[in-house]
Amino acid sequence: MTSEAREGFYTSGVPQAEINRLGKFTYPDEVSVELLSDSVSQRKVLDVGAGSSPRLGKWIESQGGEYVALDVAPELISGLRKNAGILGIVFNEIVRGRIQTLPFRDKSIDVSHARFVLMHLPPGDRASAIQELLRVSSQRVYIMEWNWRTMTSKANPQEIGEFKELQYDLAELFGVDLNMGEGLDELVRKTVETTGQKYEISVKPESRSEDDYTKDIEGLCEMAIGKLSMFLQDERATSRFGKERLQNLLSGFNAFLTRIKESPIKFVPPEIVIATIEKK
Ligand SMILES: C[S@@+](CC[C@H](N)C(=O)[O-])C[C@H]1O[C@@H](n2cnc3c(N)ncnc32)[C@H](O)[C@@H]1O
Repeated sequence: MTSEAREGFYTSGVPQAEINRLGKFTYPDEVSVELLSDSVSQRKVLDVGAGSSPRLGKWIESQGGEYVALDVAPELISGLRKNAGILGIVFNEIVRGRIQTLPFRDKSIDVSHARFVLMHLPPGDRASAIQELLRVSSQRVYIMEWNWRTMTSKANPQEIGEFKELQYDLAELFGVDLNMGEGLDELVRKTVETTGQKYEISVKPESRSEDDYTKDIEGLCEMAIGKLSMFLQDERATSRFGKERLQNLLSGFNAFLTRIKESPIKFVPPEIVIATIEKK
């Protein structure tokens, strides 16, 4: 199935709650900054599926790099421009496009970074997305993906079990793979092989220990509630997914959000699996 054959989470309307969440969620940027620390100065860095946070771009430009943002969703492009404006920044290149067919010439970018994007593509598009990243990049490609299978809790196993069930149900509606990180190593190695070129590959997980990350999952609940409420207003979506299924999921997220606001929970967040592909 190609991406045109089905609507993805971000290509069927992005709720304001998600624009806000991505703008506020700082941890993934911290991981990227650490990862990219020696690869941005004097380099052109492409951020594919950039989302609405200007933090990474701001940091890249502060290090003497040139930031190029690309995203498929017009709402997130506007959100990125607006959030950058609030910080007094204007990025020169913010492009609307798809990772599957990047609108850049071969090797016209030094370093590419795609964080939590492959998980939103139909399985058949993922290898070609990686090929595109390799095609446009002359030096390095960084790919980061969640592995939700590694999300656990000693303190609140029941709540985490329920939350994961809600998230997997929501992900299923849009064909999102929450365990994308799990298969990343194999996918990257197989795809790189098809290029016939020499690359050095490293794939490693970044994990955190159990703690109170309630705020992070509050953001995810708000995003889910925003998206499901949008869909319940949309006749095409209700006939595609069934009104009852959407309503049940919405009630589940609402009830869960109320519960964790009253009593915060502790858990081990999902690992971020990081693939670094470097031209030899
Ligand atoms: C989970 S968000 C991550 C945003 C950002 N990379 C971050 O980590 O905060 C996924 C992003 O990928 C974008 N996206 C989804 N499908 C895409 C595609 N086919 N091509 C380009 N971007 C895409 C979405 O619009 C969204 O901004």
